[in-house]
Amino acid sequence: MDQGIHIGILGLHSLLRWALIIFLIINIIRVNVEADQHFDKLDRTWSLRLLITTHINLLAALYLYFVGPDGIKMIDREKYTMKDVMERPVLRFWIIEHPIMMLISIVLITISHTYSKKDIEPLKKHRIMSILYILALVIILAAVPWPFRMEDIARPIFRGLY
Ligand code: HEM
Ligand code: HEM
Repeated sequence: MDQGIHIGILGLHSLLRWALIIFLIINIIRVNVEADQHFDKLDRTWSLRLLITTHINLLAALYLYFVGPDGIKMIDREKYTMKDVMERPVLRFWIIEHPIMMLISIVLITISHTYSKKDIEPLKKHRIMSILYILALVIILAAVPWPFRMEDIARPIFRGLY
């Protein structure tokens, strides 16, 4: 596999985590301030920015998971069984926990964005969007391989794109 492509996509995946966290916070604030007001054009723009960032990171993630060396290829390479994956915290994190938790948060963000387009009462719409975005943020914060996590899970706060 092309080493350069992997490093580039990993760097993108790492960087977009920050864009996601920042856009989530902006959206959470926006749907809570003046929550009884109409969901305006700027609200929609911010929601869309978050959605697009999320989907691009999903695309990068699918590459890392299915093509990259630290995704499911790890299982074949090391001849691990599913039992090994579930028993070893590091393997379980990369193969199961990180992908599933992040997928859930991506789904929550996408559902929240679709709510923004629904013709429902503003306060109700904003409350639902707020809950979905806060849940997504909590899950993302829990599933990111922060530097303080255990060895082999811990990853840098920022990674070079080259
Ligand atoms: C694995 C790749 C992807 C999957 C599975 C996926 C899935 C989805 C789904 C299910 C929706 C529907 C949301 C709705 O009903 O409003 C959606 C909408 C959208 N996605 Fe993705 N997406 C992917 C990649 C991308 C990428 C790479 C981009 C941007 C470059 C992107 C941008 C968008 C946009 C702009 C919308 C429509 C938002 C709107 O106007 O409401 N997606 N995607
Ligand atoms: C959108 C939410 C996500 C965020 C914020 C996120 C965040 C991260 C971060 C910060 C890293 C460490 C990058 C580094 O080493 O510098 C990482 C690695 C990784 N992520 Fe995600 N991730 C997300 C979704 C996913 C999903 C849905 C999958 C699987 C389908 C996935 C699979 C991976 C894999 C396999 C790695 C390790 C890649 C490697 O070292 O080659 N991620 N992720």
